[in-house]
Amino acid sequence: MNSKLEKNVGKAVDRVDGRLKVTGLAKYAAEYPKDNLAHAFLVQSTISSGKIKSIDSSRAEAVTGVIAVITYKNAPKLPPKNNANFDDSLHLLQSNEIFHDRQNIGVVVAETLETARYAASLLQVEYSKKAVDVDLAKNLSKAKYAEGKKNSLKTRGDFQNGLASADVKIESTYVTPAEMHSMMEPHATTAEWDGNNLHIWESTQAIFNTRNKVAKAFGLAAAKVRVSTEFLGGGFGSKLECWSGTILAVLAAKMTQRPVRLALTREQTYGNTGNRPQTVQNLIYAADKKGKLTAIKHECISENCRFTDFSEDGSTVSTHLYSCPNVVTESKVVALDISKPIWMRAPGDCPGMYAVECAMDELAHTLKMDPLEIRLLNYSEKDESCDLPWSSKSLKQCYEQGAKLFGWNERKLEPSSMKYHNKLVGWGMSSAMHGAYRMEAGAKLVLKEDGSVTISSGTQDIGTGTYTIMTQIAADALGLPLEKVRFELGDTNMPEAPLSGGSMTAATAGSAVHGICHNAIEKLKEFLVQEKGTIFSDANKGELCARNEGIYLASQEGKGESYVSILKRLPEKQLLVEAKFSPDSKQLDKYSKYSFGAHFAEVMVDAELGIVRVTRFVSAISAGKIINPKTAANQIKGGVIFGIGMALTEALLRDEKTGRTINADLGEYHLPVHADIPNIEVVFVDEKDDVVNPLGVKGVGEIAVIGVAAAIANAIFHATGKRVRELPITLDKLLT
Ligand code: MOS
Repeated sequence: MNSKLEKNVGKAVDRVDGRLKVTGLAKYAAEYPKDNLAHAFLVQSTISSGKIKSIDSSRAEAVTGVIAVITYKNAPKLPPKNNANFDDSLHLLQSNEIFHDRQNIGVVVAETLETARYAASLLQVEYSKKAVDVDLAKNLSKAKYAEGKKNSLKTRGDFQNGLASADVKIESTYVTPAEMHSMMEPHATTAEWDGNNLHIWESTQAIFNTRNKVAKAFGLAAAKVRVSTEFLGGGFGSKLECWSGTILAVLAAKMTQRPVRLALTREQTYGNTGNRPQTVQNLIYAADKKGKLTAIKHECISENCRFTDFSEDGSTVSTHLYSCPNVVTESKVVALDISKPIWMRAPGDCPGMYAVECAMDELAHTLKMDPLEIRLLNYSEKDESCDLPWSSKSLKQCYEQGAKLFGWNERKLEPSSMKYHNKLVGWGMSSAMHGAYRMEAGAKLVLKEDGSVTISSGTQDIGTGTYTIMTQIAADALGLPLEKVRFELGDTNMPEAPLSGGSMTAATAGSAVHGICHNAIEKLKEFLVQEKGTIFSDANKGELCARNEGIYLASQEGKGESYVSILKRLPEKQLLVEAKFSPDSKQLDKYSKYSFGAHFAEVMVDAELGIVRVTRFVSAISAGKIINPKTAANQIKGGVIFGIGMALTEALLRDEKTGRTINADLGEYHLPVHADIPNIEVVFVDEKDDVVNPLGVKGVGEIAVIGVAAAIANAIFHATGKRVRELPITLDKLLT
């Protein structure tokens, strides 16, 4: 086959779904019109720990248009049969116990959304409160290994020896706050039963996980449940999980015998949809007088809820970013009266890289070294955490190209030595790395009589451009123009593909799409070479290739036949192939596989007011083959904006007495807005990786956010001489 991906792959192709999105034709989970649709509205607890003493729904039930009020008092048992594997951390109205703020305690179903919402406000709930503890800082002594990770201690070499041989060391504690995903589209479900079959339209990053979890909750075979997610307004990890709102929507539909729509308000997402947990990280970075690292210690403590396990491990960054013979890392959790935390864009690595790259900046400052120089001095030529070669690593080129574009060599070493009018100017930088993953995925291809193709795979487009890049991959593999390729996703009736997370969709679904095109071409070649009396009859398969909308003799430009003409002779008049594509783990296990990057930030600080503006930002990223520089750069810019929020504005705040989140809306949880965002320049470093997958892609979804907060924190130190070790760096912290 013609495996030369060159016509569309690598080009800044516009989004194939762009028109649907800007015209409003793209449908999201809460936009599917259904006959006889009922509207559900969640009721959430106003305490963070304790019990519901009484719940009176009579006033709500009396409202005209209310169909049902569901609470723990009348909700059926879920799952219907005892199921030891069932995730009971979802809180599906099965008891009167309250484990966290804004726990779902009821659902009101009505003829209109307004009625449901109004009736929900009439529920009379009395609680008996328990004292709460939501303060990580006060409970650090209670830190222990997460359940199921009995021991997270990792060591290489001899830390104490390494420390003893050091000339300088940094011993610092870095704190990152709990953060919300704040995706544009809050979680939403439309659920419709047809007898014992269930169809749900869901805003999820993982249709098959959702299917399996819902099936389990209702004691159904997975095949009875169909999940569709055509479009999704972001997820950032929160929508990898199937939360209680989804299951309660399905329950409401079952109890009322109506199709039901349940969409969370922004505020409701602050209770049952996860968040990045707070971390406290204790680091020791020690070096000789030249700046060569001799010892590293990194302990990460993250907050967790009391009813299930989740840990945010930032310490692994210290095991493999730099070359160092003596390293010890450890991750622990503290259980608090909070809701269940979950993965958020670059879980672990994001807070971890912030701590590590601030520590390196502190070390450079102590040694009076350029921050970039100390990083080059400790560059790791292999992954020392597992003693494996990198599948590819172009971090040096990222440093070089990023620094050049930024003008880094103009930087003055001393803090507070650069000014612009009355502002202090600071330049900071950070490294970035993120694992390059791939999982098994299925794909189906139908090449039709008219020479167009439809390819489907049960993956998701979480806003990143999956529809577009899969179309590019298929078009090039088959020698078709983009207009003749239709790529479909987001339906559990399609061949199974994994969740859209871990920056692996291009590698995973992309390899499946590439693979299924290859299979289709092979099938056509087999058919052609066995025919008699055609131009292909004397050829063998290896001499044929796909190009120019058909199969051609590789060596002879115009000699071949179009798909349209070939398909006429196939008995079915079309070609259908379906297969699964798996990574070659034996081969992959011989390498350590990561995307790399370098961020450079300029800030201007008003020394009197403590106001920080990020005025320039450069990200240089090496992530293997970039399928579409436009959608990829889009992701990098989004990641940088994510990181600017982490550095300067975002923090989930809880009242220590009540345990309740006190900034549960976008008015008080501060996301960066347009005025906060400077010009962001993105460079993709050319890179070839033959190991990771047939396409050579390593993923760009998460790498961009990793290290951004460190680059900004380091720039603020360079501007002001003040080292703030607790994010976000709000002006009060710069004035004290
Ligand atoms: Mo991401 S946290 O893998 O959506």
